[in-house]
Amino acid sequence: METTTSSCAVDQLDGWRRTHHCAALTAADTGQTVCLMGWVQYRRDHGGLIFIDLRDRNGLTQVVFSPELAPEAHARAHSLRTEYVLAVRGEVRLRPQDMINSNLLTGAIEVYVHELKILATSKTPPFPIEDRVDVSESLRLKYRYLDLRRPTMTRTMLLRHRLCQAARRYLGGLDFVEVETPMLTKSTPEGARDFLVPSRLSPGEFYALPQSPQLFKQLLMCGGLDRYYQIVKCFRDEDLRADRQPEFTQIDIEMSFVDEDQVMEMAEGLVATIVREALGVDIPLPIARLTYAEAMARFGSDKPDLRFGLELTDVTHLVRGSSFKLFADAPMIKALAVPGGGELSRKEIDDFTELAKTYGAAGLAWIKIREDGWQSPIAKFLSETERAGLTEALALKPGDIVFFQAASPAVVYAALGALRLRLGERFGLIDESRLAFTWVTDFPLLEWDADEKRWVAMHHPFTAPKNPEALAQDPAAATARAYDLVLNGNEIGGGSIRIHDAATQERMLAALGITPEEARAKFGFLLDALHFGAPPHGGIAFGLDRLVMLLAGVRSIRDVIAFPKTQKGQCLMTEAPSAVEARQLRELGIRLRETAKEA
Ligand code: AMO
Repeated sequence: METTTSSCAVDQLDGWRRTHHCAALTAADTGQTVCLMGWVQYRRDHGGLIFIDLRDRNGLTQVVFSPELAPEAHARAHSLRTEYVLAVRGEVRLRPQDMINSNLLTGAIEVYVHELKILATSKTPPFPIEDRVDVSESLRLKYRYLDLRRPTMTRTMLLRHRLCQAARRYLGGLDFVEVETPMLTKSTPEGARDFLVPSRLSPGEFYALPQSPQLFKQLLMCGGLDRYYQIVKCFRDEDLRADRQPEFTQIDIEMSFVDEDQVMEMAEGLVATIVREALGVDIPLPIARLTYAEAMARFGSDKPDLRFGLELTDVTHLVRGSSFKLFADAPMIKALAVPGGGELSRKEIDDFTELAKTYGAAGLAWIKIREDGWQSPIAKFLSETERAGLTEALALKPGDIVFFQAASPAVVYAALGALRLRLGERFGLIDESRLAFTWVTDFPLLEWDADEKRWVAMHHPFTAPKNPEALAQDPAAATARAYDLVLNGNEIGGGSIRIHDAATQERMLAALGITPEEARAKFGFLLDALHFGAPPHGGIAFGLDRLVMLLAGVRSIRDVIAFPKTQKGQCLMTEAPSAVEARQLRELGIRLRETAKEA
């Protein structure tokens, strides 16, 4: 970074102490001598008087330099520029009646400066320090420390802080103990790729950064801590999206001697506390519950956005016999009827078809219901009976459009679930002011990984089954004692009751195709612990960043993280990740392959 080019002399604090922050003073303080410190937001030179809006994280105060009152300070005030850092001492005065600014907390007063210190100068910032900046996110991230000065960013950071404080107060009040767990650890199988850290002292061996403290929190229960929480960084090397970061924060919780209902009740209290702190509203408790099967069947998603309707309808039995080949052969056929959706253009329908294809669909069938009949490429394949069946099941009226997906359940749900969200936006059905919470319960314990040709844990391998006997007999039928908390279509938390006996844990690992030797190598410490009197236990983890994102009403998780990574996992400010010195690699016993260097 270049050094400052300003020739302006810079002062020291010289023992000055701030008396107020920049949003504190009101008419009641008139006549007081105060000392404020902050950044220059604007300077206005009115011939005689010079006005500065002085800003800190709390807000603005107008300070005034008068040539008569303080000639020396006034003379120096000419040199002040945006983002200079000042300390001023002066007197609080009421503004003239016609100058009162009711939009500003301090709008009734101004501070007439007696003495000025310039604590730092500033180059012209690459973007204005204001809420409405028309500037690329990459520039904001490169100069994040300037971006953080913008009022919305400051507000979001303060909101995040308040939510953490509220969570700590709530959990502390319920006798939860805050315990830190290691960052340098062994890989835990949450399903994402690990970030690895090479060990200098054990050449060729690696730590993994934790994807979550899952095993440690279970071991804390084995250690008799009874109730644990931690606001903790987790690391997952996965493809990034607007709601994902490679390092993110969880409010991580575990409890002993509890069942699902107790964990969910505690979690609801926590969420209600956080929402009250953020928005000042009380959410109705208890939060409604949907089973996984119901969520998928009705919304095509295990994190349904319940701010609007547009539910899927199963029409398999109505059109299975149709002469339309795709319907005749499909394992499942579902419809999504949009009342009044007949206005959609051909182009929009084509875009929706492309969307469905990204979820594995072969296409997207549709019918527009017109006064004069059905308009659709597939209408001619449908018999009178089939039409009548659809009209009744979907309550079709002229002006509606109905979309169909005929495929495997996985594809039907994924394609129509995504289409439902897109249609909700397109037709303005989503009430942005609503907070629609739901629990999703009764997840399948396992899912089939077609690539690896084996069962994998849907949540993680330590989740207790409701029906342990299914593990050996019919893995597809095993149901998890797991629960996710969903807010407006976002998964904000997830947890489960854990397996607390060694035999079930070993059976679970066997169902996942993990041999006893592998199990010992990977989780021997957990299996051992389960032999020494492990209490029944369960817990949950909330995605703090997502929660703050939703409550702050911003669209990207990056906007609620002080120093986030880009989609490519880079920090544009520090330029991490970056190459390291050859000496550092040598110490670690690592040699880079040419391809790695080129990539
Ligand atoms: P899970 O993997 O569901 O559960 O994570 C819990 C919550 O963390 C948030 N989250 C993320 N947020 C931002 N970026 C990411 N990459 C990311 N990944 C997850 C989500 C999610 O609901 N150990 C278990 C919890 C338990 O069983 O108690 C776990 O980590 O909001």
